[in-house]
Amino acid sequence: ASGPVAESQLILFYWIFWAAVFVFVTVGGALLYTIVRYRRRDGDGDPEQIHGHKALEITWTILPSLVLAVIAVPTIMTIFHNANSPDPDGLQVKVVAHQWWWEFQYVNPEDPQMELVTANELHIPVGEVVNLDLNSEDVLHSFWIPKIAGKVDLVPNERNTMWIQASDPGEYLGQCAEFCGVAHALMRFTVIAEPRSDFDTWLRHQASESLEPVDPLAIEGRELFEGQAQCFSCHTVDGLRKSRGTKGPNLTHVASRRYIAAGILENTQSSMRSWLENPDSIKPGNIMFREALVYNDPDMKLTGMQIEALVAFLQTLK
Ligand code: CUA
Repeated sequence: ASGPVAESQLILFYWIFWAAVFVFVTVGGALLYTIVRYRRRDGDGDPEQIHGHKALEITWTILPSLVLAVIAVPTIMTIFHNANSPDPDGLQVKVVAHQWWWEFQYVNPEDPQMELVTANELHIPVGEVVNLDLNSEDVLHSFWIPKIAGKVDLVPNERNTMWIQASDPGEYLGQCAEFCGVAHALMRFTVIAEPRSDFDTWLRHQASESLEPVDPLAIEGRELFEGQAQCFSCHTVDGLRKSRGTKGPNLTHVASRRYIAAGILENTQSSMRSWLENPDSIKPGNIMFREALVYNDPDMKLTGMQIEALVAFLQTLK
């Protein structure tokens, strides 16, 4: 565990685990003892016939109640600990789950210039409380960063909240933990916990507009993006006039991310090319493959050169 939420969950897990071991050993031991001690021997007649045993019945009512109390008290304490953020005024991030990727919106009512929307990569300042607002765009999902915190469901039209905190800097794996359709297992994300100064640099950079491409191939890619390929109708790129779509991930700084396609491919030129060539072979059922004309209208299909141009453009979005 890294962080107070996962630590409290781990302590609770071990507490319940040892309570279960106690029950297993006591019940199993008593059973074994009885089988051996009172087994049928040669010459045994019928055993003594009895009905009821008050002392035993009281014992096996009280003992399990005690075990349940031992489990219930720390469980309820952990639930309250994890439900109540120790710093409600700390950093706020809105998480929106989509089939099958994650949207992260950094909210900052005091400084709208520092607000931003990104996808599949959650940056947090190490050692600080981060308050999450959880929502879903379509079906049930569940937010889980095994080493930091989890799991809380994301429910359409219902706001859930949780808080997280990482005690060590580093990269953490996140994964959707509620079956949400065919690509559920491919709905991952990356959490990057970094010192406050690095986090601020990241935030400032991500809140800025994209840079103008200078390379001719990349310029051609941008024209495709905002033209024939129609990427703009589903994706936002801050700094481009037409690209205001919100159906797919915000791509303003896609090249700065470590992974693409919700944590399943390293962000390299060749994986970006494979993704654009045939996204369905990488993430079956994804909306882009189902709905974008370039994959559904044979006349609109992208040529190899066009894909190269799009990749070149996307790589300038650092
Ligand atoms: Cu989203 Cu499983």
